[in-house]
Amino acid sequence: MKHLTTIQDFTKEEIWQTFELAKELKEKQKRGEPHELLRGKSLAMIFQKPSTRTRVSFEVGMTQLGGHALYLSASDLQLGRGETISDTAKVLSRYANGIMARVFNHQDIIDLCKNSTVPIINGLSDKFHPCQALTDLFTIWEHKKTFNNLTIAFIGDGDNNVTNSLLLLCARLGVNFSAGCPKKYKIKQEILDLAKEDISRANAKIEILDNPKKVVKNADIIYTDTWVSMGREDSEERIENLKPYQVNKALVALAKPDVKIMHCLPAHRGQEITDEVMDHQSSIIFDQAENRLHIQKAILVLLLK
Ligand code: CP
Ligand code: NVA
Repeated sequence: MKHLTTIQDFTKEEIWQTFELAKELKEKQKRGEPHELLRGKSLAMIFQKPSTRTRVSFEVGMTQLGGHALYLSASDLQLGRGETISDTAKVLSRYANGIMARVFNHQDIIDLCKNSTVPIINGLSDKFHPCQALTDLFTIWEHKKTFNNLTIAFIGDGDNNVTNSLLLLCARLGVNFSAGCPKKYKIKQEILDLAKEDISRANAKIEILDNPKKVVKNADIIYTDTWVSMGREDSEERIENLKPYQVNKALVALAKPDVKIMHCLPAHRGQEITDEVMDHQSSIIFDQAENRLHIQKAILVLLLK
């Protein structure tokens, strides 16, 4: 049995297998061909935090695959009244063929894995967002056709789930990754340590700087995320400190002329990204959002079938 708790759970080969299958399923869906590979299967989806993309793309994805998904808000489950995550995992595994969970504390994902007899998919924790990173690199592969000599520049809050998973995936696939973040919110050494072996094996250039202008110079992709992730308490201070890291027209002008703009969404327009950049033709943000559906269908097939 296989889980997807973090990028490290998938080998480079399994990541490519996911991309190839996502491409195939996307084409089938666009042609209107049935692809009910999970007929009769159920996915239990636990949400401790709000969601638009993750919730809808997993649910629609299960329907398109011939299965069924259940939206379970943590506050409506007995979890909200103190039933443990371990007992919840034991019980849900008796009914469903897989469990997707969005949690505050990554330890909950680990506890689900320890107590579940069905695959667990991390739909975002405080530490990682692997479904997002897989979608992001798949989207880049679709648009740029190759990862060779490609550089992704991440600008903004380096100390969050999306950045962590993006760095880990770039290291695993050998894609150059530069982060431009204030020293206070830079990617933690713990994450770099996790990527160490991949970085040396793949020869990928992974750098963490604090000058956004330097980071976007010659970038093929500029990526940003909210300055205040769900569950952060220090929002006012963060917004103030991150102001110089806004992805705006002046910053984008320093990158390659064919640079593509990405954001995992939800965006806070006027904070980490301006309307002008978000709605520009170089933005592939909504293709990226759509691809959550296709990548997650591939993940579901690989784990649940
Ligand atoms: N990007 C992402 O996970 O979006 P949601 O929070 O809407 O699921
Ligand atoms: N880093 C963001 C991602 C939202 C999808 C958060 O955790 O809120």
